[in-house]
Amino acid sequence: MRSVPSNKLAVIITGATGMVGEGVLFECLLHPSIDRVLLVNRRPYGAKHPKLTECIVPDFLKLEEFTSQLTGYDACFYCAGVSSLGLSEAEYSQITYDITPDPLPAEIDCKDPKNAANAACKKK
Ligand SMILES: NC(=O)c1ccc[n+]([C@@H]2O[C@H](COP(=O)([O-])OP(=O)(O)OC[C@H]3O[C@@H](n4cnc5c(N)ncnc54)[C@H](OP(=O)(O)O)[C@@H]3O)[C@@H](O)[C@H]2O)c1
Repeated sequence: MRSVPSNKLAVIITGATGMVGEGVLFECLLHPSIDRVLLVNRRPYGAKHPKLTECIVPDFLKLEEFTSQLTGYDACFYCAGVSSLGLSEAEYSQITYDITPDPLPAEIDCKDPKNAANAACKKK
């Protein structure tokens, strides 16, 4: 959780260079209850906005190396992924499920029932 209490939310978005993530980004930038947005992408999104910062993670399998930059946020919209079109179930599952890490290990209380559907908690 955040060290400084605030009635505004700080959120992380992965996959903002893609269609779904970019839509989430636009909504977050417009939303009055969100005051900070951190983009986590393999490559820069490249926009300038007062709410926006970026963290470039070239290999999402090594996301845990960036844990210190990913703490202090209230939520993560994990939008990185691929279309299932043309992929086998194993390939699709590997990219959309297996590489989906526990991005905020210190933040998510998996004992809290409201987090039961969180992918990171499902893997535990
Ligand atoms: N579009 C839809 O209507 C729809 C509907 C339901 C569910 N979904 C799901 O939502 C997710 C995103 O879909 P989309 O339409 O936004 O796809 P998209 O436009 O192809 O964007 C994919 C995003 O995921 C990132 N990404 C892909 N593989 C990655 C990897 N191995 N490591 C890190 N980042 C990776 C891409 O980063 P780069 O720019 O670096 O490639 C990009 O930011 C997918 O899981 C998709 O199945 C989409």
